[in-house]
Amino acid sequence: MCGIVGILGQEPVAWKLVDALKRLEYRGYDSAGIAVLADGHIERIRASGKLQALSEKLRSSEPIATSGIGHTRWATHGAPTETNAHPHLGGTVAIVHNGIIENFKELKEELAGKGTTFTTETDTEVVAHMIDYEMKQGKSPREATQVTLQRLEGAFAFAIMFEGEDDLMIGARRGSPLAIGHGSHEMYLGSDAIALAPFTNQVTYLEDGDYVVITRNSFELHNDKGEKITRPLNFTQASALLVDKGNHRHFMAKEIAEQPDVVGHTLAEYVDFDERTVRLPSEVELDFTDLDRLTITACGTASYAGLVGKYWFERYARLPVEVDIASEFRYREAPLTKGGLSMVISQSGETADTLAALRYCKSEGQRVAAVVNVPESTISRESDVVVRTYAGPEIGVASTKAFTCQLTVLACLAIAAARARGVMSLEQEHELVGQLVKLPRNLVKTLEQEDHIDRIARHIAGKRDVLYLGRGINFPIAMEGALKLKELSYIHAEGYAAGELKHGPIALIEEGVPVVVIAPRDELFEKTVSNMEEVAARGARIVLITDRAGAAASGADAFETITVPQADPFVAPVLYSVPVQLLAYHAAVFMGTDVDQPRNLAKSVTVE
Ligand code: G6P
Repeated sequence: MCGIVGILGQEPVAWKLVDALKRLEYRGYDSAGIAVLADGHIERIRASGKLQALSEKLRSSEPIATSGIGHTRWATHGAPTETNAHPHLGGTVAIVHNGIIENFKELKEELAGKGTTFTTETDTEVVAHMIDYEMKQGKSPREATQVTLQRLEGAFAFAIMFEGEDDLMIGARRGSPLAIGHGSHEMYLGSDAIALAPFTNQVTYLEDGDYVVITRNSFELHNDKGEKITRPLNFTQASALLVDKGNHRHFMAKEIAEQPDVVGHTLAEYVDFDERTVRLPSEVELDFTDLDRLTITACGTASYAGLVGKYWFERYARLPVEVDIASEFRYREAPLTKGGLSMVISQSGETADTLAALRYCKSEGQRVAAVVNVPESTISRESDVVVRTYAGPEIGVASTKAFTCQLTVLACLAIAAARARGVMSLEQEHELVGQLVKLPRNLVKTLEQEDHIDRIARHIAGKRDVLYLGRGINFPIAMEGALKLKELSYIHAEGYAAGELKHGPIALIEEGVPVVVIAPRDELFEKTVSNMEEVAARGARIVLITDRAGAAASGADAFETITVPQADPFVAPVLYSVPVQLLAYHAAVFMGTDVDQPRNLAKSVTVE
């Protein structure tokens, strides 16, 4: 899951490539590189580590050229060294690649048998050499690319450049996303519209199996059989201005702070504020009436949103829900009822496993609804119903505002389902929607606790283990809190259902181990407090996240208490997400880790 870009421009291109890569760095940041055509010759500059290292190299020697390709890498085949960094060369061909070529070993052996020597361990270099080999047999760049693509197994998006061909570039897609950007006498390729946002808002998305030949003034799309095809032109809203840290130190801090706004924007699309009812947009054509089951699949944080959704749909709409992580679900051969409904949840809309789960559900004859943040994404385009979240671009690798917007949408859908199934009175709907409407204000109040949470986070920073406990609808928030902490600060953290504590995790408790307890004053509060007392008695340092009533009733066992506004348990998962995000954020800042780009992670996981 790397980021790729290609530019056929009118002006010097090196820094433009770097600018686009900066916007793609969320896809991977192990190494970066560019290749440009300077006087018809390929010049390459690459560096291991973050984009900063590439920028430094470029400052000392900027090649002058108006066409080039660039790449930011999340390593799959080969260590993240400079040698393995993209672009890769094969004779007269330079290429950048996002994805995995599964049969590259056989192809490599075949070429080696014909005398080709390789300089890297990557699957990508093989593709460059294959195209070069075909060109040496007399084929044009387009023909050579087409026959090569037909031999590849796996997933890919490519941007390919050819020595001596200053007005030619080829892009191809199977599995990994790729967009063509249309400029004025300029043409672009990019992994997504955000990368191209500073240059153009007019994009054409390639479909699986497509490849495109671009020049500065033209583009020609082909399908995998080589036939000419057309794809629609889209005008994107990915404004360059939105992808900015503002006054915040990190994207993550900005995205946490934006939650009252973006949850409000999302609510505005799904709720009638005057009537206090849920009002789904007309394009969200969902009929929950006769469903006997809903299957939800997602990865990472989005799968925790799915778990909260399960509580809502089951409790309020009496609709049985199965939730599975997409990487397991896709291979499970789960039997699904023809004509039934599945749901996938994804911020990026590009996660490979979630996309595969979507395709599986469709192949089983299900309608698929996608809760998705990027409307132009592959998952949006392939699903039957798109239920958008309005979080705006999320750049921090650890998901925050996208998660609370996913929760907001799921809460609204659960109410809509409950009404359709005749199991919720209008009065109850008014009550719950009233709680949703108060969310932006209550999120602001929760954010006001930030300084207090920062101080608590300093006690968590540097610890070996941290446990997060929750019950019922807040159990997924305990898991989300633990995930946030481990991905940002590399502290071992586990989220557990408080009732399971005695079946294992209590063995981790010794003097001073932090235990974060998520316990609003709901019907399970007393039980969670008992679990809290059990660990406190064994030396745990309790951080209790609760409301005013809970703080008053909890006794003196908590080492620290974070008090969030009093609210109905229905909306608790949205509110209680914020303190766990802030705890993880401030612990990481205190420890000095790279908050927006934690090691080994990437925002958009477009490989299995
Ligand atoms: C990666 C990200 C997570 C995200 C997950 C699913 O692991 O680091 O923050 O929750 O992918 O991504 P999606 O875009 O499908 O929501």
